[in-house]
Amino acid sequence: MKTFLHGRDLIGDLDFSKEEVETVLDVAFNLKRKRALNEPHPYLRDKVLAMLFFFSSTRTRGSFEAGMAQLGGHAAFIESRTTQISHGDTAKEIGEIFGRYFDGIAIRHCDWDVGNAYLNYVASSSRVPVLNMQCEIFHPFQCLADLMTIIEKKGRDLRGKKMVVSWAYAESYSKPISVPQSLILQMPRFGLDVVLAHPPEFNLMPDIMDQAQSLAKKHKTSFEIVHDMDKAFKDADIIYAKSWGPLVHTADPKEGENITKQYSDWITDERRMKLAKEDAIYMHPLPADRNIEVMDAVIDGQQSVVYDEAENRLHVQKAVMSLTMG
Ligand code: CP
Repeated sequence: MKTFLHGRDLIGDLDFSKEEVETVLDVAFNLKRKRALNEPHPYLRDKVLAMLFFFSSTRTRGSFEAGMAQLGGHAAFIESRTTQISHGDTAKEIGEIFGRYFDGIAIRHCDWDVGNAYLNYVASSSRVPVLNMQCEIFHPFQCLADLMTIIEKKGRDLRGKKMVVSWAYAESYSKPISVPQSLILQMPRFGLDVVLAHPPEFNLMPDIMDQAQSLAKKHKTSFEIVHDMDKAFKDADIIYAKSWGPLVHTADPKEGENITKQYSDWITDERRMKLAKEDAIYMHPLPADRNIEVMDAVIDGQQSVVYDEAENRLHVQKAVMSLTMG
């Protein structure tokens, strides 16, 4: 177990080693147990987290805010449009100044080619940890919650289990690619065989794909790319199917919309779930476009673990905050 994570940032999924992620999970399971038993756990008494949002959120805001309160501290919700950022406050100033007010700075900034750089600029000027509440490249806390959920449902030995990370059709908006990218980086380290499924235009960033291939090789797991949703689902243990935009393929939103419309049959329905193993689980980070991206019968069905995933955001975030900000 790695016990010294004090002061560390978590911006990319690989910022923490496998052993450090195991420590986070260990602490998260303990915090989940304590909450179930109503045992107080004020590891961050008098500490304050800044939560700076450039993009909307339900789960991320709720779980970080509740988590800080349960740890005996406080979380300050800061909507970027209510700050002076648009009037000139730079990332350096946010890092310098918020680093002097707060004990941690959590940021969600998903703008293409901007968000991740912004987080790293803030981190380079901040004396306190910077935590990534989602950028355009990574969603590390979602991925930690997903890993915790998979361990709860499938056990600690995940070797030989097939996880499908699939694109799905949606109409609401062009969703970031950060969730599938985080999953293909983190899951091979824990022994899962990953199949990435998407129509050709929904490819992920080439350097992330290269890293995922290398990690799969290093950890002796497989990493396969297919362009057929049915083929991907066959005999899977874990189905993680969600939409993302063709953002690597085109920067033109209209072109992206036209491409997306061609693939409206990429939906997770009961027929497709039957292609997977009988005890396969269905995962989604939410929000989902119901009956477009996934049928109600699946997301509300016996195989769905989406609410456990959402709950586990709370426990893994409390673990990382306790370890880095304590
Ligand atoms: N899964 C997730 O990050 O949800 P929110 O966008 O609601 O925070």
